[in-house]
Amino acid sequence: MGRILSGMQPSGRFHLGNYMGALENWVKLQNDYECIFFIADLHALTSSYADTSKLQENIHEMAIDWLSAGLDPEKNIIFVQSHVKEHAELALLLGMSTPLGWLERVPTYKDKIRDLEGTDKDLHTYGFLGYPVLMAGDIMLYKATHVPVGEDQSAHLELTREIVRRFNFLYKKEVFPEPQAVFSKAKVLPGIDGRKMSKSYGNIIPFGASAEELTAKVRMMTTDPARIKKTDPGHPDVCIVHQFQKVFNTEDCENITARCKAGDIGCVQCKKCLAEKMNTLLAGIHEKRAELEKKPGFVKEVLEYGDRRAQEIASRNMLEIKEAMNVL
Ligand code: TRP
Ligand code: SF4
Repeated sequence: MGRILSGMQPSGRFHLGNYMGALENWVKLQNDYECIFFIADLHALTSSYADTSKLQENIHEMAIDWLSAGLDPEKNIIFVQSHVKEHAELALLLGMSTPLGWLERVPTYKDKIRDLEGTDKDLHTYGFLGYPVLMAGDIMLYKATHVPVGEDQSAHLELTREIVRRFNFLYKKEVFPEPQAVFSKAKVLPGIDGRKMSKSYGNIIPFGASAEELTAKVRMMTTDPARIKKTDPGHPDVCIVHQFQKVFNTEDCENITARCKAGDIGCVQCKKCLAEKMNTLLAGIHEKRAELEKKPGFVKEVLEYGDRRAQEIASRNMLEIKEAMNVL
């Protein structure tokens, strides 16, 4: 049995795409591995350092999202990154030996700076360049053997492996295992307008949406533009509703597709059917969320409990790391 570690940045409203892409997978992994999951608030600061007014609220919201999705705080260690100071310490130590070129060559580095050009986020900072070093430290601090990552994070994990090899070589001790990626067949959901689901496009379905809010979002989804009357034969391939049917309504999808092509079902009815299906699937999560929203003290306690358990491992491993580096 290996040790899984993963984190997510608390950067605003968590959406259904995040859930299907990562969290749903974590909920499954918790039964097969020892898991450590943390809210990566320090990583959020690498790009959102200027306005931190929502940070605490976002951390709290993310904890509710995780718990309502079914992450079990007894089975897993669930905590907040900045509460365990060794994350900062290890990033500093690893930064000493990480070549600048390795960081500049990370493909997402220049892309993201370019993406955000012209916005209020200037990423020409020391912290943003060091983002992958901070992430390597997160993984190494717990000697994680497996890291569930999406496509977007796989270059960072590859870099972590290089940093591990360099450390073990420089200090002549196999302190860290080389972490392996755990790829899941992530179900990719588009936004309701067909572009990538992203807060900045305003096309997300919030994970914490109520049944009414969710139904309203489904109603707004883009359908086959060539279809005017419900007897017109439709083209499900170009329809966003269809993509959601494939994920959330696996049993009826084939039938609905055939009826759409035959002009035998209207988009209004098709959407109604999808919204019902989604709401049924998410009902348990909605219920749990409503409960947790009434108990902020409990959520805080869960995180504090996780902080303590993470701290214990971090303190122990940090000692070994510093010993190997002879900085005790
Ligand atoms: N960088 C990750 C993200 O933005 C979050 C993260 C931070 C992470 N440290 C990590 C993920 C360590 C996996 C392992 O999604
Ligand atoms: Fe899309 Fe459904 Fe309308 Fe067909 S019937 S175009 S799948 S919404």
